[in-house]
This record gives sequence, structure tokens and C-alpha cells, in this order.
Amino acid sequence: MTQPSLSLVDTDPAELAVDAIVIGLHSQPDEGGALLPAAGAESIAAAFDGRLTSTLALLGASGAPGEVTKLATLGTISAPLVVAVGLGDEPTGSAPSPETLRRGTGAAVRALAGSNTVALALPLPDDEDAPGVLRAILEGALLGSYRFAGYKTKPQPNRREPVAALQVHVPDANDASAAAEVTRAEAVARAVRLTRDWVNTPPNVLRPPEFADAVVAAAAGTGLEVEVLDFDELKAGGYGGIVAVGQGSEAPPRLVKLTYTPEGVESPKRVALVGKGITFDTGGISIKPAAGMWEMKSDMAGAAAVGATMLAVAALKPRVAVSAYLAMAENMPSGTAYRPGDVITMFNGKRVEVYNTDAEGRMVLADAIARACADGTDYVFETSTLTGGQVIALGKRIAGLMGSDEAVELVRAAGDRVGEPAWPMPLPDEVRKGMESDIADISQTNSNLDRAGHMLQGGVFLREFVAEGVEWAHIDIAGPSYHTGEPSGYWSKGGTGVPIRTLLSVIDQLG
Ligand code: BES
Ligand code: MN
Ligand code: ZN
Repeated sequence: MTQPSLSLVDTDPAELAVDAIVIGLHSQPDEGGALLPAAGAESIAAAFDGRLTSTLALLGASGAPGEVTKLATLGTISAPLVVAVGLGDEPTGSAPSPETLRRGTGAAVRALAGSNTVALALPLPDDEDAPGVLRAILEGALLGSYRFAGYKTKPQPNRREPVAALQVHVPDANDASAAAEVTRAEAVARAVRLTRDWVNTPPNVLRPPEFADAVVAAAAGTGLEVEVLDFDELKAGGYGGIVAVGQGSEAPPRLVKLTYTPEGVESPKRVALVGKGITFDTGGISIKPAAGMWEMKSDMAGAAAVGATMLAVAALKPRVAVSAYLAMAENMPSGTAYRPGDVITMFNGKRVEVYNTDAEGRMVLADAIARACADGTDYVFETSTLTGGQVIALGKRIAGLMGSDEAVELVRAAGDRVGEPAWPMPLPDEVRKGMESDIADISQTNSNLDRAGHMLQGGVFLREFVAEGVEWAHIDIAGPSYHTGEPSGYWSKGGTGVPIRTLLSVIDQLG
């Protein structure tokens, strides 16, 4: 579905001829929870002649974060509908946190499906924080309006279409930094929405060859350089891990590389992004239980995120050289599948003893990481739906983060800034000791199949494939990449697009 159009306005929100206008609503804990219209809503509150908050309270509004209350305006202002979105307690500074606004805006714009044009009159600080808060509002609006097109054969009579046009109220609609935020938000949201589409696409429709074709098609005309290795080229090139996992499927594996080179920057920093692109993970011969297996259509969320990040990079043109490596395979059980007990020679020459074919992600990623290092890079940021252990340890919202100190801190700080939290985890020596193999250089999981430190085993394994001197981070997004509950904030059901905004923020920091 197409992304809504975005424009800035600086005329009085009470006079905007739109279908609905979104305002913020706070609660005042010191006043017994009394409601307070957020900054930006002044002229609308004035038009209601002191009755706005009492009417919203009558309708049940409490100002709780993300709460959406709709109110017919009955001619008090130009728009026929006001939508008050809860932004929590009255802020101590001049505006609520960016993430509160991102989620609130997302919830409001989603609730307004069926409206054509919507204006946002939300609080913006008048200090140096303004661009970041505006960015959050714009991202929340563009992501909250996302809906997967789906495959229904009949039109749905009661289905309301996502908002088509958004007008965002700012103090000065001609301000260059505000315009730059619009351009940026459009590029970022396009990337996140494309990733959500890819993740939500059924696994019979998006197998490795189709996934590679879709990425190549999306990169056409962007200026990105594209390289695709097919099955024969992967075999000839020594990509033992990708070949081992991919050989069990009739749909052959792919390695897609996208490269962005900044213009006019002398010896820029070099960043490699690596993503796990398992288009479906049955577990292979170590087959998974049936319950919930369908969710493994999202096992390519890492590759989708790094591919889409490159499209945003091509549009935003940072002063950093960025390459992405998307390792694509389908993990199937079959007569040609790899087995537990196999010893695989990987791209960097190391030999791995396979213990569980369901630990396929690290097999394809190890080759992609080693290839990225062989091409020459200063940083590797790898992201993958790698372990169920990540979800057990950190839940569905917070990614697991492992790697070298500088890269880990870059990702942690960026995730914190953009509302995609990632929590640093250790790479303990005893976990590495548990992965000694009797006959190969390393075993793929703990060699007693001990699940202790499950998430950490993935990080410890991948570290073996990072070249000396390269800063690296592994971001395990098994939980945060896929949202199973009801839509909430700017998250729809299904793919979330995590960690695209983190990666873009890290790249900004390095430029
Ligand atoms: N794709 C899964 C991890 C996963 C689980 C992602 C749940 C999202 C939600 C991965 O390939 C896998 O199967 N991991 C195994 C590793 C084990 C065999 C060492 C796991 O987590 O059990
Ligand atoms: Mn698996
Ligand atoms: Zn997997």
C-alpha cells in the first residue's frame, strides 16, 4: 500500500480544512489526574470555549500514553473530528519523549483509517530538540498508517483505507531543517514499510530467488551497485554454510550484496551490514514442532532490514561507504538437506561440526560476515532472528546485542535514541569452551546440546568469522522483528522493520 503524502503547515490548526485533526492530551498527576491539552492544541482548546477537556473526560479519556479518543467538533473548528491521543503525564520539559510521540502518533493515525486527510497539531519544543521530536512524529504517522495489502480475493466492504494525506503543523512551514526531516522520514518510512511487506509476504511467495529478485528490483535506479551470487557461484566460491543450509530446498540459496559509495569523500569509513535471510525455517532435519512454525516466515527479517536500510542510505547519502550482505536460503528437510554430524568448510576456511540443523542462521551468516571482512571493512553490523533464547531473555521488544565494545556501544546508543532498544550481552569464555568440537574447529552449538547461554552461543559462534581488527556487533532480533499481538503504537501486526532506524542512526554517527 502506498505511503501517505506528507506536508508541513503553519496556519492555525483550528482553520485547517481536513477530515480530522490530531492533538495531544496529558494528565496532571498533581491535579488529581485532570486533563491538559498538549502544546499545539491551544487554538482548538480555545474554540471549544473551555469545554474541550471536560468533554474528552466525559468520553473516557485519561491521557494515558497511546489512548485515542475521537470527538465530533460540531462546527467549533473547520475539521469535523478531533482525535486526542494520550501522551501521559504533563512533561517536565517542553515536550514528551520522542518515543511517546512516535507511538501516540502511530496509534492516532491508525485509528483514523477511513479518513482521507489528517492534520497533526502535536507538541514541538522550541529548542534544539525540535528536529528530533518532529522526526518522531513524522515516523510515527508514516509507520502507523502501514497496512499489509494481503491476499483476499474479494474487496472487504467495511475495510477502511489508510490515511492518504498528512499535514503536520509546525511553527514555520518554510524552515529548512523541518523540510529535511520530512525528506528523511519519507525515506526511512519507505524502507521500514518495504521490510514489513517482505516479512509479511507468505513463504511460498517469497523464496530465496524471489527475495533476491525483489531486492534487486527495489535497488534499480537508486545508484546502488548490485551483486547476486546464485547456487553454483556460492558452491564455486566456497560458501559452505550457505550451500549447506540451501541445498535442502528446491528453491536455491542466494547471496545478495548491495554497495553504496559516497561521492567526494576521501577514504570514508567502511561499514558492512549483514542480514539473515532464511525465507522459511522448518528447522531442517532437526525439524521444529508444528505449533507456531508458520511464524518462521519472518526468519528473513534481518536481511529484509539491511536490504531496505540500503535503499534509505542511497536516498540519504551519508558520508560513509556502506555495503550490505543478504544471506538467503530456505531451511528444509529433504533428501538433499544437510544433517547433524556433517562437517562444513566455511567461506573463511574454518570447519564447523553441525549439531542441529535448526541452528541454520549462524551457518549462512558466518559466510556472509567472512565475505564482508574479505572485501575490507571497518565495521560489521549483523542482524538476525537468530535464537529463541533472545526472546526468553529479553522479551519481544528488546534486541540482544553482542560484539566488540565500540560497535556494541554505537548500536546501544542508537537504539536508545530511535526507540529500538538493544541490550548488551556478554560473550563468556565458558560458552566458547562448550562449543569445542572433537573433529572440527568449532561446533555449531554447545556440543552437549546444552541450552545454557543459548543466545550467547550464537554470538560466540559468529565472532569466529569476524576478521582481526574489525569492529562488529550482532543484533539478535528474534523478538522485536515480528509483532504477534494486536497493533500498538506505530507497530502493525507482523514485521516491524526493526532495526532499520538503529542502523541508519549508527551510519549517521560514523559520517
Ligand atoms: N529462526 C530461529 C530462531 C527464532 C525463534 C526466531 C523464535 C524467532 C522466533 C533459529 O534459526 C533457531 O531455530 N534457533 C534455534 C537454535 C538452536 C537449534 C541452537 C533455537 O532458538 O532454538
Ligand atoms: Mn532455525
Ligand atoms: Zn532460523
